[in-house]
Amino acid sequence: MCGIVGILGSEPVADRLVEALRRLEYRGYDSAGVATLEGMAIARRRAEGKLHNLAKRLVEEPLEGTIGIGHTRWATHGAPTESNAHPHATDAVAVVHNGIIENFRALLADLAQDGYLPQTQTDTEVVALWVTRELARGATPEQAVANTLEHLHGAFALALMFHDHPGLLIAARRGAPLAVGYGENEIYLGSDAMALAPFTARLSYLEDGDWAIITHDGVIIRDASGEVVKRPVETSQASALLVDKGNHRHFMAKEIDEQPETISHTLSHYVDMASETAALREGLPFDFASLPRLTISACGTAYYAGCVAKYWFERYARLPVDIDVASEFRYREPPLMPNGLSLFISQSGETADTLAALRYCASQDQHIASLINTLESTIARESDVVFPILCGPEIGVASTKAFTAQLTALAGLAVAAGRARGVLTPEAERQLVHALVGLPSAVSEALRAETQIMEIARHLSRAKDVLYLGRGQMFPIAMEGALKLKEISYIHAEGYPAGELKHGPIALIDEDMPVIVVAPSDELVDKTLSNMQEVAARGGRIILITDEVGANAAGKDVAEIIRIPQVSSFVAPIVATIPVQLLAYHTAVAMGTDVDQPRNLAKSVTVE
Ligand code: F6R
Repeated sequence: MCGIVGILGSEPVADRLVEALRRLEYRGYDSAGVATLEGMAIARRRAEGKLHNLAKRLVEEPLEGTIGIGHTRWATHGAPTESNAHPHATDAVAVVHNGIIENFRALLADLAQDGYLPQTQTDTEVVALWVTRELARGATPEQAVANTLEHLHGAFALALMFHDHPGLLIAARRGAPLAVGYGENEIYLGSDAMALAPFTARLSYLEDGDWAIITHDGVIIRDASGEVVKRPVETSQASALLVDKGNHRHFMAKEIDEQPETISHTLSHYVDMASETAALREGLPFDFASLPRLTISACGTAYYAGCVAKYWFERYARLPVDIDVASEFRYREPPLMPNGLSLFISQSGETADTLAALRYCASQDQHIASLINTLESTIARESDVVFPILCGPEIGVASTKAFTAQLTALAGLAVAAGRARGVLTPEAERQLVHALVGLPSAVSEALRAETQIMEIARHLSRAKDVLYLGRGQMFPIAMEGALKLKEISYIHAEGYPAGELKHGPIALIDEDMPVIVVAPSDELVDKTLSNMQEVAARGGRIILITDEVGANAAGKDVAEIIRIPQVSSFVAPIVATIPVQLLAYHTAVAMGTDVDQPRNLAKSVTVE
């Protein structure tokens, strides 16, 4: 899940390649590089680490070429060193690659017989070497790439530039996204529309198996069988303005802080505030009333949003829900009832496992719906119906505002389904929507605990392990809290169902183990508080997230109580998310980690 860009330009391209890469850094930031044609030589500048290292290198050793390719890397094969950084090149060709070439070892063995030996540990270099051998055997660049593509197994996007053809870029897409942008006398390539937004809004998305031959005369797109095909030129809505942090120290802080506003935005799409009813603005290719089952697949934080939604759809719409992490679902190949609804939740819309799960469901006669932030993404484009979450670009790698927007949209959909299935009376619907409409102000109030949370986080930053407990719809929030803490502070944390503690994990409890209990007052709060007492009796340090009623019932064994406002239990998971986000954020800040770009992660995971 790297980011790739290319420019066939009329002016020097190096700085613009870096500008486009900056907008793709969410896809990986282990190393970065660009290659341009300088006179008749391929010149590369590459640097370990974040993009600013590459930008610095380009100031010291500028490039002037008017054609070039660039890459920001999330390492899959080979350490994130400069020599493993893309572009990879021979004297004849340079290549950038996003994805995985699964059979690179077999191909390298074949190349070695002819003396073509790799200089790096990457899978990508095999592409440069194979194309070079084809060119040496007399193939044109087009023939060389066609032949190479035939031999590659895996999911990838590629861009190539040729030493002997200064006006030619070739790009290919198989399983990883790639867009072609059309400008004035210039043509661009990018992993997404955001990357190209500073240069053009006119884009064509390559489809799976497509490859494109790009010259100053135009773009010829061929499909997997080699046929010339037309892909529509669309106008992208991606903004040319790179979102900034405002007066926040990190994007994550800004994104946590703006949730009252982003939730309002999502709400305005999913509810009719005046009549306090659920609003369904998308034309549905299915009828909630007759749906036999809902299957949800997603990864990471998006999966936890789906776990909360399972409670909602089952309780308020009596719609049975199966939910799985997409990476497990895709290989389980479960039998699915014809005409069922499969829902895929993804902020980026590009997550490879979620996409593979979608394609499996599409092959099983399912209606395909997705809940997406990036509406121009592959998952959105392959869905029968797309439910937008409308929270704006999320830049912090750890997802925050997308999670609460996903929950808000899912809550709206669950109410709409409950009404359609005759489970909710108009009054019950009104009460649920009323609770949703109160979310922005409840979330604002929950954010006011930040100063207290900063203090708690200072203690938490000294812990080696942290346990999060919750019951019912608070269990996914406990898991989300633990995931956030792991991701950005690197402290080991687990989210556990509170009632399951006594079946094993209670053995971990001692005075060094902070236990965060997520338990606003609902019909399960007493049970959770009993489990909390079991922890207290064993010396565990308890931090309780609850409301006023829960705080009064908690007893005195609690080290800290973080109060959230008293809200309906329907929307309590959304409000209880705020303190777990803030706890993770301030713990990471206290530890001095790289909050927005934590080690080993990437914002969009386009490999399996
Ligand atoms: C966690 C996080 C990840 C993503 C997961 C799915 O903070 O961001 O767990 O939620 O990689 O990504 P999307 O939603 O883009 O499919």
